Amino acid sequence: MLLGERSDRLYKSMPAKKNESYYAQIFEAADHIRKNLAVRKINKAELSVLLGSGLGDFADTLQARRSIPFSSIPYFPSPSVAGHSGRLVFGETEGVPICCLQGRVHYYENHDVRAVTFPVRVLGALGIKRLIVTNAAGGLNSNWKAGDLMLIRDHVSFFMPNPLLGLNLDIFGPRFPDMSECYSKTLRQLALECARRMRLKLRQGVYAGVSGPSYETPAEVRMLKKMGADAVGMSTVPEVIVARHMGMECLGISIIANLAAGISGTPLSHREVLETAQRIQPKLTKFLSSLFHAVSRLSRRQ
Ligand code: HPA
Repeated sequence: MLLGERSDRLYKSMPAKKNESYYAQIFEAADHIRKNLAVRKINKAELSVLLGSGLGDFADTLQARRSIPFSSIPYFPSPSVAGHSGRLVFGETEGVPICCLQGRVHYYENHDVRAVTFPVRVLGALGIKRLIVTNAAGGLNSNWKAGDLMLIRDHVSFFMPNPLLGLNLDIFGPRFPDMSECYSKTLRQLALECARRMRLKLRQGVYAGVSGPSYETPAEVRMLKKMGADAVGMSTVPEVIVARHMGMECLGISIIANLAAGISGTPLSHREVLETAQRIQPKLTKFLSSLFHAVSRLSRRQ
């Protein structure tokens, strides 16, 4: 047999096997969560939230809380960055079951994009239909300030591999999923209404996803602005692509932790990002609680 034919056959069979084992890992992790949290309502949870850098406090406000560390869930990647605790917290707000990912892993931690998005695949396998993603980002608009909240209208990202590369996971979604409404219009409308009721200033804009871990240069910041972005960060895009692949409805909220390089007059630091996140957490937590009530009312109507 010609080497060419053989390697061609191998090439064709390997990724299929890889997919089988990836499916198996996802469902094993989902089963582990179901068994170990031992909460009946987990099968009823429709809402989930991914809490980013230093933004995990919302999970601690849930009632009837049960949690497990990411490190105890099979195949779950564990975060290595300060400010990301890495726990899955399941609880309720006013009887509405919610699943929280408190912390995330990033591409820059040297996880591949399949590992970065593994927890979101597991949420999908648990039957969860909606995902709210939060992150800390650098603001690209000189009129904005650190501590502002931004509702993500859309994203741009060509700086990380697409998490859907490789053989398609057919049982979750199509080969070429549509991305024309990554951030649900209905959920965005609801978020704007909640913000208006709370008299909370909520900016709106496009999030640019970059790999990091170095912050951008001022020239890169100028390029991102020209691409139509309003904020830049090192997460969110892979998770939202995977969630949309599975048909989950998504919403994204960025806290503007700093003004991006060249706009801010000072060098950027992770400490500054965490300090702003810490300062803004109470506001974000109140907003998320109000948003969850609005979303669950919407679920009941549907
Ligand atoms: N750039 C990229 N990621 C970020 C920033 C930034 O300025 N701030 C917080 N996360």
